[in-house]
Order: sequence, then structure tokens, then C-alpha cells
Amino acid sequence: MSYYIGIDLGTSSMKLILMDEQGAIHNSYSCDYPLYFPKAGWSEQIPEDWYKALVKGVPELIKGFDKSLIKGIGCGGQMHGLVALDKNDNVIRPAILWNDGRTQAQVDYLNGVIGKDKLSSYTANIAFAGFTAPKILWMKENEQENFEKITKIMLPKDYINYRLTGVHACDYSDASGMLLLDVENKCWSKQMLEICGIEEAVMPTLYESYEAIGRVKEDVACLLGLPSDVKVCAGAGDNAAAAIGTGVVGNGGCNISLGTSGTVFISSSKFGVDTNNALHSFAHADGGYHLMGCMLSAASCNKWLLENVLKTTDYEGEQAKITEDMLGENNVFFLPYLMGERSPINDVDARGTFIGMSMETRREDMVLALLEGVAFALRDSVEVARSLGITIDKSKLCGGGAKSPLWRKIISAVLNVELEIPKTEQGPSMGGAMLAMVSCGEYQSVEKVCNKLCQTANVIKPDSALVEKYDKKYNAFKKIYPCCKQLFTELK
Ligand code: XUL
Repeated sequence: MSYYIGIDLGTSSMKLILMDEQGAIHNSYSCDYPLYFPKAGWSEQIPEDWYKALVKGVPELIKGFDKSLIKGIGCGGQMHGLVALDKNDNVIRPAILWNDGRTQAQVDYLNGVIGKDKLSSYTANIAFAGFTAPKILWMKENEQENFEKITKIMLPKDYINYRLTGVHACDYSDASGMLLLDVENKCWSKQMLEICGIEEAVMPTLYESYEAIGRVKEDVACLLGLPSDVKVCAGAGDNAAAAIGTGVVGNGGCNISLGTSGTVFISSSKFGVDTNNALHSFAHADGGYHLMGCMLSAASCNKWLLENVLKTTDYEGEQAKITEDMLGENNVFFLPYLMGERSPINDVDARGTFIGMSMETRREDMVLALLEGVAFALRDSVEVARSLGITIDKSKLCGGGAKSPLWRKIISAVLNVELEIPKTEQGPSMGGAMLAMVSCGEYQSVEKVCNKLCQTANVIKPDSALVEKYDKKYNAFKKIYPCCKQLFTELK
């Protein structure tokens, strides 16, 4: 038997799992770190906090286990975040995260002046505020002194891999979200590097997610209590890693992740672009490609309403008040744009909105509106995929929000999709551990490890009466944002 460590470098915490090659999870550990919103719409973290979580978490995770059996480490990480290091390998400024909205001027320049067509031909994508290239431009324009110090650029999980191995590496799935990668040809785009004013030498070496980038450095191995020969694989962006964990590889699979963000991830063995660039066209961690729609606030909307507004952590209790007969009948609607929105509206100014309340509206109608609003916004991305001729009639569902039977039922009916709930649901950390297994030669390919380890626990079939009701509600939902769009800009 061998052990593999899977890391999920999330936005609110680092989750670690210890998994064997048969897929049994022997231990898990989670470590929180702060998330900073220094200005409205900004979102930052301190990379050293991620490393501290690793240094605290790994020894806890492996305590009491035979350490000589640990063979590999794989990390799935929050995407797009800009981590910049100076010539002494010091982090220059806090990381600017995937849900940060400060770069509207840079996005306008990239999409408007350079032009969406050019960006799409260079990278297969257009600019979104959360992507890395606009952040580099923001630094260049707003923090020139910091910009000039840049010697290495990396993504969040690559910072962890760098601290572990000393190798400045990135995998294709995560690199895709930088708007600096020529996704189709899997190399850095010379044009994009030039537009951002950076040399290729500051960029990481590119790998497939399942390739080993190196071994844990001796001093770090000693600190973490690991044997000296543990391999580290390139890992993946968290959505690609989550898709590996649910077995969504090859052609035409779909994984919906209901975490802080909400994503619709469609795997494909061939490269393809959404002609309107509403969906991202990225590389997958299995060596292929995927299309993805990403909403910036999904399960986090529920957390916000319950914990920040209603001051409760009783998620089950709140949902228990929602009875079957309320589904599809709610006249309250919620736009889930608490951090602005990425797919498909690409609007940093959009905000969360409840609409349609009356004197009869109860607390549970609003909680339900929120669950439905997130499902409707997921459907926006699913509809874009359908408009491209992609059939989505079933999907895996993962992430914290997927634990709620009520939310599963609503999503299944709103999307008219059969939802498969994985037997082992460990999100990106499981994908990370599986990629490490491939890099250590335990499995010959990502597909093989998925075939062996990914199983479905149960299937939620869409309730046809509810599908019809939610179809009407979705048509109403779709009209709300266009009415508010101008107002959101005025209110900012
Ligand atoms: C994907 C995205 C988010 C983050 C969340 O494009 O921005 O899903 O990766 O961690």
C-alpha cells in the first residue's frame, strides 16, 4: 500500500487528505486562513498563510501513519490569483485573488483596445476581472515599484509547490486561467507577455497536471515529517482537480461544483472555443481540454445570508422550513452577484439583489430564493453550453453546497439535468491525490485512476412537474439583471 497527500488550496481554508491507491481516505485535515477585502470589490490573501497552513496541516494529517508509505503530493488550487516574487524569492504584495474585481480598467483596455478577437486568437479567452493578466497590468499601472521587482510570477498552488520543491512550475489547466497561455498550443503567448510587459523568464515552466515537477526539498520534508523522496506533481486548478475527483475526463462529461464559486465544467478531448467567449476555454488536467462557466458567489451566498445576515449556522434547520409545495412557486428572486459576476455576464459592478417581496414574504421564502437564484445563475452557463450544441442532460455535482438534498433537487429541476452524487466527495484534494498517483506511476493515466476510484453514490433525477415550473421562473429570473445593469453601475 502507498499513501498520497491531496491538497485543496481553497479560498477559506486548506483541506488535506491522506489517500491510498485504492481510494480509501485514511485521514483528512482542514486549516482556515484569513481572506482580506481591503477595499470594496478587492480580495486578497497572504501566501505565507497558505504555507503556514501546510506546515501545520501535513504533520497533523500524517500523525500515527507509516510515513515511509507516503509517495506523492498533488495540489488543486484556487485559480487565477497573482503571486509575485522578487529576486530574493520574497512575496512582493498580498496575492490578488480570483474573485477580486479591481481590474475593470485593465479588462476594458484588453477587451476594448487590444480587442476580444485578438485575445481569443492568442489565448482562446477574453479578459475577465479575475484573470491574472489584467492583475499584472493593474500592478504595472498602480504599483510600479512593486511591478519592477517581479522576478517570478505564479499561481496560488504553484506557490505551495515552489515552497515544497524549489521548482517554479505550473500545469496547463491552471495556466489557462492567466490569459497568458496559448491554450490550444499549450505554450505561453508571446503577444500576451508583451502586452503585459513581462519576460517569459518570469513565468513558470509548464507541465501536464499529472507530471512530477520534483521532490520535496530535504529541509521542508524534515519540517513536515515526510520521507525525503516524496514526489510532487504539477497539480491543477481547483475546478480541473475537482473534475478529476468526480471522474469527469475525456469527452462530454460535466461536473458542477457548488463551492465558494459555482462552476459548470464540461470536459472535452478536443480543443474548442465558445464563439462568444462567455465560457472559458481551458486545458484539462487529463491532458485534454474543457469549457467552463464560473459564477463568483455560489455556496458563499448561502453562507453570507445565514451567517452574516440571519446570524445562524443552522443550515439544515433553515432549509427544513422549506416545504415541497414551496418549490417552483416562489415569487421572491435573488441575483447572486455578491462579488460581481463572471460567467456569462462579465460585470464587476453587478450586486446581490432580492426582488419580489411582499408583506407575506417569510424568512424561508428568502432562503429558498437564494438557493434558486444560484441554480438559475448556473443555468445561465448551462444554456450557453447548450447554445453551442453541447448536450448536458447529466452531470456530477460536488462542493460543500452539494451536501444539501434540497439544493440538489432544485438544481436538478432548474437545469433539467440528472445529477450524479459521487461516493467519495473530497473535491480538489481528491483530484490532487489522484494526479499524484499518476505521477508516481501507480496508474498509467488519469483516465485509469478515475475509472478505478470514482464511483457514484446516488442519482437525482429531475422532477418533470418541477422542471416545467422552474422553466417559467427561470424566464422571469433572466429579465431581472438587464433591468438592474445600469443601476448597478450608478450605485457603485
Ligand atoms: C474559476 C474560478 C474559481 C476559483 C475558485 O475560474 O475562478 O472557481 O478557482 O477557487
